[in-house]
Amino acid sequence: MPEVAAVGITGIGSYVPDKVLTNYDLEKMVETSDEWIRERTGIRERRIVHPDQATSDLAVIAAEHALKDAGIDASEVDLIIVATATPDMLFPSTACLVQNRIGADHAGAFDLQAGCSGFVYALSVGSQFVATGKYKRVLVIGAETLSRITNWDDRTTCVLFGDGAGAVVLERVTRGRGILASCLGADGAGADILCLPAGGSRLPASEQTVAAKQHYLSMNGREVFKFAVRVTEEATRQVLQQAGLTVEDVDHLILHQANIRIMEAAAKRLGIGSDRLVVNVDRYGNTSSASIPLALSEAVVDGRIKDGDCVVMVAFGAGLTWAASAIKWGHG
Ligand SMILES: CC(C)(COP(=O)(O)OP(=O)(O)OC[C@H]1O[C@@H](n2cnc3c(N)ncnc32)[C@H](O)[C@@H]1OP(=O)(O)O)[C@@H](O)C(=O)NCCC(=O)NCCS
Repeated sequence: MPEVAAVGITGIGSYVPDKVLTNYDLEKMVETSDEWIRERTGIRERRIVHPDQATSDLAVIAAEHALKDAGIDASEVDLIIVATATPDMLFPSTACLVQNRIGADHAGAFDLQAGCSGFVYALSVGSQFVATGKYKRVLVIGAETLSRITNWDDRTTCVLFGDGAGAVVLERVTRGRGILASCLGADGAGADILCLPAGGSRLPASEQTVAAKQHYLSMNGREVFKFAVRVTEEATRQVLQQAGLTVEDVDHLILHQANIRIMEAAAKRLGIGSDRLVVNVDRYGNTSSASIPLALSEAVVDGRIKDGDCVVMVAFGAGLTWAASAIKWGHG
């Protein structure tokens, strides 16, 4: 195999809309309670975009923060990947809109759709271009406005989701640092468990699809729950094995912020104490592709994640998909 360069995160940024929707607000919208939502999910509140905000608007701000943190100009970016399940529109890609808005004049741009696993998938894809020497700087963004595809009359889903964005810059780093291993998985047999039925080529948008609310996210929560706990454990073990690490080496486990019960159940199966879990689901809910970069960004900014720490990120989502990445933090 040809020698590949070590690739790591050299800049990180995030953004959430300022509008807060609390569980108490939801109590006024559907038959639910703050207590039910907290006990079943760990969520207290989530952020929701303003009517004039779309996914690219959140992505642009997160991207600008990440570029500033990396100390590079947008014109130096070679490739932009936006992981999203809620693009501004079906086409063109949200990545192209971001490319134009930030002035990344020399960058290619595309969207990557892997449900809530999108950011970890995109991290793996983007890092290949840097590892092979094809590109020097890749901007990877996870950005979502789940509030736009949520049925606000359906208490079984509307309490779970929120909006936000996180972004990272990938560049070469000192050997031994950066992304040590990553793994991707998919099982399309579970496509129906979590999907947005209408608006694509199978069920084009029509008066009937809108009347049947098929333009909203549809989910079998219990099935997703079981799948999530299982693959989170499996993907964590797989990525650690590939990196030559054990669960004892993990300093920070950043799991997809879907539900605190899923995170705690998976961590328990792995024998990783909750003190090593990075959690912000209480404040943002499930922000899909944005959830892992948002959590990572907060933990870096508040100093929890330090140079040399071992960070493992694991996501799961629609597809069904799952993905994991093990990183030695810092670029030395
Ligand atoms: C959705 C989820 C929180 C539901 O929790 P649960 O413990 O499985 O609850 P159940 O679905 O068994 O529902 C229990 C009861 O609460 C009710 N309920 C559902 N949502 C409710 C709400 N928001 N408020 C009050 N009651 C609610 C149900 O109707 C059900 O009532 P019943 O027993 O009379 O039928 C949980 O299954 C989950 O988090 N799944 C994973 C979802 C996910 O992560 N999706 C995104 C993946 S990327």
